[in-house]
Amino acid sequence: MFNQRIKIKELLSGEKTDYTVTVMGWVRSFRNNQFIALNDGSTQHNLQVVAELGLLNDETLKRITTGACIKATGNVVASLGKGQKLELKATEVTILGDSDAEKFPLQPKKHSLEFLREIAHLRFRTNTFGAVFRIRHSLAFAVHQFFNERGFVYINTPIITGSDAEGAGEMFRVTTLPLDGKAPKNKDGSINFKEDFFGRETNLTVSGQLEGEMAAMAFADIYTFGPTFRAENSNTTRHLAEFWMIEPEMAFYDLEDNANLAEAFIKYIIRYAMEHNPEDLQFLSQRLEEEEKQKPQNERSELNLLQKLEFVVDNDFQRLTYTEAIDILKDCNHNKKKKFQYLIDKWGVDLQSEHERYLVEKHFKKPVILTNYPKDIKAFYMRQNDDGNTVAAMDILAPGIGEIVGGSQREERLDKLMNRMKEMNIPAEELDWYLDSRRFGACPHAGFGLGFERMVQFVTGMTNIRDVIPFPRYPKSAAF
Ligand code: 4AD
Ligand code: MG
Repeated sequence: MFNQRIKIKELLSGEKTDYTVTVMGWVRSFRNNQFIALNDGSTQHNLQVVAELGLLNDETLKRITTGACIKATGNVVASLGKGQKLELKATEVTILGDSDAEKFPLQPKKHSLEFLREIAHLRFRTNTFGAVFRIRHSLAFAVHQFFNERGFVYINTPIITGSDAEGAGEMFRVTTLPLDGKAPKNKDGSINFKEDFFGRETNLTVSGQLEGEMAAMAFADIYTFGPTFRAENSNTTRHLAEFWMIEPEMAFYDLEDNANLAEAFIKYIIRYAMEHNPEDLQFLSQRLEEEEKQKPQNERSELNLLQKLEFVVDNDFQRLTYTEAIDILKDCNHNKKKKFQYLIDKWGVDLQSEHERYLVEKHFKKPVILTNYPKDIKAFYMRQNDDGNTVAAMDILAPGIGEIVGGSQREERLDKLMNRMKEMNIPAEELDWYLDSRRFGACPHAGFGLGFERMVQFVTGMTNIRDVIPFPRYPKSAAF
């Protein structure tokens, strides 16, 4: 058997010394022809592997370069070096994979995040991205644990769909028809999609919600966790063209139940990461503090990353309606002094991220759940309130991020739903299957979508969403 190794995390977490182990990993640095800093991805910390002078021949020593993959066997001993309790006194070092030091782009020094994004295939091997992606893993695991503990059924909704779940027209087309004008045409000159692979127009999903609702009409409590795609031309630090979303959908829930679940869910997964990734969070917290030192004093955060996360799990989210939020924004000094790019002058306008961030970061200084938005700025499936102007929508806004959750109670009344679809030019024929859920045993229900990368951003403190997904897709970029 080849892989009889101990993971460095396990080795370093023990107190035990004087036993023989084998470790395998990638060389982070090699000093004085003796001290190898070895990392195997199981932890932030490197293991110091000491190859005493004379143990290795010149040929092998030359091959222990930054980035090389090695296997080392030896005795675990107490370390005299600072920063570590234990080290490995090697009796044998084998090179598993060479790495040309001249060509390997990652040197043992600080690289900019922009540079690392260009070599996303190698950035997993840095401290920062090691921490980010171990935390991403923990958060994903916690998502499943949270819902599993509450008896939710995990449903996989399709990635290729024939409908536009958000009705916003931001879809990537899926087709096997030729692009060079040779596609089969109808008599009127339009493309004949009956000849296409699926015999109809198809696209990548923007949300699994509509299919999720169908499952909730049988299991009551379900959730999805999958990739979603949006062809919106947004070049921001919070938008991706391919992102992951968690969408729970619950029968017998109203808007308040929905908000309660979302708040409990967010707190739960943050707590899970705090418990399971303390060292990675500590590292990222310090990293952020360093980064903030470049900023003027008045722009620095009052709380560091760890304090911010603790604050969020320990305090109630602020709940208010859209109308109350507009009143606050309209009257705030920021608006009066025309410091917003988009001034808030009347009820009904959509909130921009500058407004969301003002509410969360300046006004309430905590996460906010905004409810009951004007129907005209929200999707067709949201439940219409009795006032005729608003819908039972909810957005959760997080400090530093803005919108992290979007959700609503759903319109379960067939006539009201069909009227709204007509008003919004949503083709009912395409969604007839969806309407069936309102024809056969409809019930009050609600759900929401959490943008997973925005959540990872919040927990890791990474400022750019492109740095919390392994291989980001955004306008004009689909490398790797
Ligand atoms: O608000 P959205 O569009 O809501 C929905 O898709 C609903 N179907 C959800 C539901 O009720 N089941 O998207 C939900 C969340 C947003 O709050 C945001 O966190 C994230 O998905 N999101 C994005 N994240 C990264 N890049 C993008 N382009 C995103 N668009 C939305
Ligand atoms: Mg939204």
